[in-house]
Amino acid sequence: MTDREHVAKLVASRIVDVPDFPQPGVVFKDISPLLADPAGFRAVVDAIVTEQRATGFEVVAGIEARGFVLAAAVAYAAEVGVVAVRKAGKLPRATFAASYSLEYGEATLEVHRDAFLPGQRVLVVDDVLATGGTARATLDLVEQAGGAVSGLTVLLELGFLAGRAKVDGYPVHALLTV
Ligand code: PRP
Repeated sequence: MTDREHVAKLVASRIVDVPDFPQPGVVFKDISPLLADPAGFRAVVDAIVTEQRATGFEVVAGIEARGFVLAAAVAYAAEVGVVAVRKAGKLPRATFAASYSLEYGEATLEVHRDAFLPGQRVLVVDDVLATGGTARATLDLVEQAGGAVSGLTVLLELGFLAGRAKVDGYPVHALLTV
């Protein structure tokens, strides 16, 4: 088994499907057992750093909320800083904002206007790529704020929701695609 296959198997074994959450008909992918497992957490963070190192990312952007957990660990391991892409109204200084549709509902994300240096290479990290709205809004925000997207990485891609089409043209990596 290759390292990638090993990590994919680990991710698959530590994610729990929760039917009808947060609303009927949606199967929520709960990654908390993976994050709570010391070996699992370390393996996914290391896998992301290994996979993305060659892109030369200079900062990591994490998407609220579960993306924060991964982004901070990846940034620490890679010895770079971390930027929070937050839900509307949470950031204290001037922001750029982008609205998007979720698998369930609507939302707006924001980033501080001065979050990135001009042309800084930004690795965007989140837990799940579903319909792709969240990721697309974040990539747009990074560029609006003057950053250069080096890649988007997620633990889990829900291929049947075709989120990859929304982030067409960007390097996307998922540790596991289902
Ligand atoms: C979930 C998940 C991703 C996003 C993916 O976050 O953590 O960020 O949905 O969905 P999409 O690809 O269809 O846009 P959620 O919006 O539930 O926020 P939370 O992490 O704050 O609960």
